[in-house]
Amino acid sequence: MEQPETINIMPRIGDFAPDFTAMTTVGPLKFSEYNTGSWVILFSHPADFTPVCTTEMSAFAQREEEFKAMNTKLMGLSIDSIHSHIAWVNNVKEKMGILMKFPIIADIDMKVSKLYGMLQPGESETAAVRAVFIIDPEGIVRLIMYYPLNIGRGMDEIIRSLKALQTAHEHKVALPLDWQPGDKAIVPPPKTVEDMEERVKSKFEMVDFYLAKKDLD
Ligand code: BEZ
Repeated sequence: MEQPETINIMPRIGDFAPDFTAMTTVGPLKFSEYNTGSWVILFSHPADFTPVCTTEMSAFAQREEEFKAMNTKLMGLSIDSIHSHIAWVNNVKEKMGILMKFPIIADIDMKVSKLYGMLQPGESETAAVRAVFIIDPEGIVRLIMYYPLNIGRGMDEIIRSLKALQTAHEHKVALPLDWQPGDKAIVPPPKTVEDMEERVKSKFEMVDFYLAKKDLD
């Protein structure tokens, strides 16, 4: 099978989120100004007026207050015109009673999609895949998800990941499989034999010295 041409370099976890200026449904925005002091979830959808995208984007809108309460702003994107976005936002409001208030980038020249590796030619040369970038208030990419065109994302998992990132950042801990707010965190493994001997005597919930958990205050 012929390999599709690689047309972009994707930002990686730990990189500064590439800055850009774009036309959006709330007017022109510069990403580095939008991101100041808050977390941002930048996410793409393949196309306006398509079924899976409508389920996802309306879910982002319905849970926007939850994101706000987590000091997090939303920013959507697709390779559609601003006119298409406005018509779709209006249609979703009329048919479902849900208003997408967050900005949606009209990335008709594919500038932002290419900058963020959202255009993956093996999947589509003209539509962005379903990407999610969680970016911290310092502008660092902390988590990336890419889903194909035919599979919708999980909103609960996006919110869980955001909460986990914020908790791990605040408490300087790692968090285990399926962590939920209120669950214990992983205690960093000991780095010396002496610390290991202390650890096995500790009161942490422990499988062995390298796998111990503690409550967060
Ligand atoms: C959808 O959102 O339903 C969709 C969009 C592009 C390709 C396939 C499905």
